[in-house]
Amino acid sequence: MSGRGLFVTFEGIDGSGKSTQARMLAEALRAEGRDVVLTREPGGSPGAEEIRALVLEGATDRWSPESEILLFTAARRDHMERTIRPALAAGKVVISDRFADSTRMYQGLSRGDLRGLVDTLHDLMIGLEPDVTVLIDMDPATGLSRALSRQTAEERFEGFGADLQARMRAGFLALAQEFPDRFVTIPGAGTPETVATRVRDALAGALPHG
Ligand code: TYD
Repeated sequence: MSGRGLFVTFEGIDGSGKSTQARMLAEALRAEGRDVVLTREPGGSPGAEEIRALVLEGATDRWSPESEILLFTAARRDHMERTIRPALAAGKVVISDRFADSTRMYQGLSRGDLRGLVDTLHDLMIGLEPDVTVLIDMDPATGLSRALSRQTAEERFEGFGADLQARMRAGFLALAQEFPDRFVTIPGAGTPETVATRVRDALAGALPHG
């Protein structure tokens, strides 16, 4: 298959700074003349952006855990079909702010142990893993205070509080050990520029041509 691009995802707890880092990486790679698609989940295609509002707004108990997994997976399928796969086929670098690892953590761990269900649905309907996953590791208390200071309508998960943040952080670190071939863990403390340099250094080997 000619023209296979590179698929990079950013993961981390709410307020970890991963969205800023995804944007900074996209800007740095574009400045080098690379063709980059910066996208996000939930969302990243028109249909998936509509599902985003369904899953991120409203009461915490708006969906059962199982319905929620189906909605995130439906959004991801559309995002993959319409945005990610075409860009990779055209040889582009795709940078996604969150992807399937977020479902493995948030839906797989937060309301009971549903990881098996998440993985089964992923295998059936998605079947795509990133080439590189950048985990921005952040102290949960700092992450939570940053996330809460943003005050958006997208608060269904942020309302879950400090305990959940701590469990998510531990879960992401365990996931990085589970998939050591694609994960790089970057300390999120420091200025955005400092963290961006760490990310660029970690990715240097994954970007062979420019
Ligand atoms: P995001 O927009 O990345 O928010 P933030 O920048 O604050 O991290 O993600 C919004 C929320 O969606 C976040 O709390 C995590 C949640 N989420 C899931 O629960 N499951 C998923 O599969 C994804 C992609 C996100």
